[in-house]
Amino acid sequence: MKMPAKRVLIFDSGVGGLSVYEQIININSNIECRYLFDNAYFPYGELPREKLVTRITQLLTDFTKQYPADLIVIACNSASTIALDDLRSHFSIPIVGVVPAIKPATFITKNNVIGLLATPGTVERAYTSTLIEQFAAGKKVLRIGSTKLVTLAEDKLMGKVVKQEEFNKILAPWSSAELKDIPDTLVLGCTHFPLLKEEIAACFTKPIQLVDSGEAIALRVRQLLANSLISNEKGEFKQPLLHQAFYTKAFTNLTHLSALQKSFMTYGFESLSFFDC
Ligand code: DGL
Repeated sequence: MKMPAKRVLIFDSGVGGLSVYEQIININSNIECRYLFDNAYFPYGELPREKLVTRITQLLTDFTKQYPADLIVIACNSASTIALDDLRSHFSIPIVGVVPAIKPATFITKNNVIGLLATPGTVERAYTSTLIEQFAAGKKVLRIGSTKLVTLAEDKLMGKVVKQEEFNKILAPWSSAELKDIPDTLVLGCTHFPLLKEEIAACFTKPIQLVDSGEAIALRVRQLLANSLISNEKGEFKQPLLHQAFYTKAFTNLTHLSALQKSFMTYGFESLSFFDC
């Protein structure tokens, strides 16, 4: 007996959610992904709480009316650390959020110095401070909030040249050899940053552990969808069927749009189109 594919909506302000999507499709089959990014309100890491919650609630309500979903992944730390409770009380389907992987980092660090690299919003949130207090007592957790790094990830996927000096400048507070406390483990607390792993690692002279929440999110999605996954007679799960991506603000630069469309195709999307909202 064939079961219809489950519809998973992955949401972010930009391309960052692709790092989560990648992990989700690695271990979940028989799912159809729709990826929605809100470039009209990008960057989320600089928006105040009220504005963010109102916008996301409205946008996801409109989108799911047109494209119903069985599960929503808020693939954005800046939004998850502030809007999850509101979203969960508004929608009746399961909502999975992404928060900085502080706890796993505490098991990895050897020198007990952890760097949290996130958006300005995420590094300042009470939610983040609570995570640190709860899980990283006795460790030193340094924080850098950077929107520039988010835009560098956007640029990279739009085919623009990204220079290593830009990364070196942002990471300089943690990479100088004279520093006493150099983190040996970085928490990539923004979903855009796993798309820049090589560039971030290249800022350091010593090997550095980079930790993100992508795999944990994928496992949570699998757990929530478990009842509806069905294997074929060989015991294999069906392959994913159709993935589509949408943006909320029309691109004025068509070269950038076309480069981005190519990037989305390489991630396995059939289309990248405008969602009018
Ligand atoms: N990808 C997002 C995050 O995880 C946000 C980037 C932004 O729009 O500031 O925080």
